Amino acid sequence: MQKLLRTLEFAHMTVGRFVKSGDSVIDATAGNGNDTLFLARLVGEKGRVFAFDVQEKAIINTKNLLQQNGLISRAQLIKDGHEHIEKYIGEEVSAVMFNLGYLPGGDHSIVTRPNHTIGGVEASLNLLSSEGVITLVVYTGHPGEQEEWNYLEKYVKNLNKKKYRVLLYKFLNTKESPFLVAVEKL
Ligand SMILES: C[S@@+](CC[C@H](N)C(=O)[O-])C[C@H]1O[C@@H](n2cnc3c(N)ncnc32)[C@H](O)[C@@H]1O
Repeated sequence: MQKLLRTLEFAHMTVGRFVKSGDSVIDATAGNGNDTLFLARLVGEKGRVFAFDVQEKAIINTKNLLQQNGLISRAQLIKDGHEHIEKYIGEEVSAVMFNLGYLPGGDHSIVTRPNHTIGGVEASLNLLSSEGVITLVVYTGHPGEQEEWNYLEKYVKNLNKKKYRVLLYKFLNTKESPFLVAVEKL
């Protein structure tokens, strides 16, 4: 049995250490809703999940998944880019999850873009409570993804070490697997 956590499992385990029942949190890339569902369970009845996606299909898929699980009342689904999250949220959040790239099973030409991703991370840092976390699952296998990572890597490496801790979780002997960046606000 493999004991090292896969990247997505590691992302969930990490977020679980920061979020308590009743918190507000953000899924910055709702996609098929898996992370939104995970967050909706984590925040409990009194918590709130704000989930963003630029695609109608992703918003519908996420809505369906939450409804099937009886958790739609804990989420607000917003069809807009994560670079605009401050237009919609005026409260502190304890976690923000990004899962970059395209919608699995959807239009592969609609992908996260470096300037929007950096804008989303910047906005997330403004809303993040101290002792909060941002996670980013990053892929580098498709056109544009390496470029996105180049920008993002430069950005997170330059975050002030007195205010943030930045982690990279990466398997080194396989190119297929995505990797995780986590930013802890001190
Ligand atoms: C890899 S998928 C997310 C998977 C999702 N977390 C899940 O659990 O199913 C990436 C998503 O990011 C969305 N996206 C692309 N650009 C975006 C932006 N600027 N703001 C928000 N979402 C965006 C895409 O439409 C796509 O659905």
